[in-house]
Amino acid sequence: MSWRSASNVAWLRGLSGIREKEPLATRTSFGIGGPADFFVELARNESIEKVLDGCQEREIPCLLLGAGTHLLIADAGIEGLVVRIVTREHHIEGTRIRAAAGLKMMRLARIAADADLIGFEFAIGVPGTVGGAVYQNAGCWGKELREVLLEACGYVPGKGKQKWTPSDLKFGYRTSALRDGALKGALVVDATIQLTRGDGGAAKTLMAKLTSERNETQPIKTKNCGSVFKNPKGDSAGRLVQAAGLKGTREGAAVISNLHGNFIVNEGGATAADVARLIERARAEVRRRFNVELEPEVEQVGRWP
Ligand code: EPU
Repeated sequence: MSWRSASNVAWLRGLSGIREKEPLATRTSFGIGGPADFFVELARNESIEKVLDGCQEREIPCLLLGAGTHLLIADAGIEGLVVRIVTREHHIEGTRIRAAAGLKMMRLARIAADADLIGFEFAIGVPGTVGGAVYQNAGCWGKELREVLLEACGYVPGKGKQKWTPSDLKFGYRTSALRDGALKGALVVDATIQLTRGDGGAAKTLMAKLTSERNETQPIKTKNCGSVFKNPKGDSAGRLVQAAGLKGTREGAAVISNLHGNFIVNEGGATAADVARLIERARAEVRRRFNVELEPEVEQVGRWP
């Protein structure tokens, strides 16, 4: 709690649009999680950079939030400041699109098709923002963001603006240097994707087909966090959870989906503790039955007991 000095609190209270003890559950796709000590939504890169530098200088913990689609926020909430990035611009230059971090991937997929640019149809199955997608190399239907990413611009608190190539970002399956490496704590400002000129109408038809397929295999209309576990090499977490007989297993109002074993659904009023218990139960049972260690894809953040 050392960051909670009178001068730090006064600085936070002086930020434009700042809110205290702000509930975060409605800002996640799971609908779960306690409040942020301090919360601000920022739509301009200059303000975001100023706030991040201020937090770094003052040693105030700071969490960047996009669409909150792959997060499990603790019931006791989040220490320090949560900054929700709501930058949404995009620029099309030939076959490239530069998109701000706060733009939704699904929206960008439609923007690309509208501009007769193809190769980004997979993004219609990625629920988060562009920033979140760079952070964890998001993907769907066997394709990942790294396959189309040309470069990303970022901001490293205390060091300033940087331009990153895909190799700087050290992408792996559902990870990058931002999530697990040297760029931890850095902000994605925007990402430039390289696409191909093609038939936008056909891209839209394909996206509609993919979406309806996803509708049949994943509980996409429920409150969930996307895939709970990463797929182990050569296998599927959903298949393993099903084979372990865990579909329908429940902790409070959190239940392992009967449609897809790698989804946990909040039926209404589930706590983060319910979900965490369910995750541990599934890991333990899959370990016991198949000797496979499931690694969570969802990121647990905040004050955990
Ligand atoms: N399967 C089962 N039981 C289940 C679920 C799946 O037996 O309950 C089997 C399926 O029949 C299939 C295999 O497991 O043979 C793979 O399942 P699926 O095609 O549903 O894909 P997945 O590997 O479970 C991945 C991504 C999803 C993405 C889909 C569609 C991961 C962890 N998940 O799921 O990404 O939407 O492919 O391409 O890589 C996400 O990351 O949040 C996410 C939803």
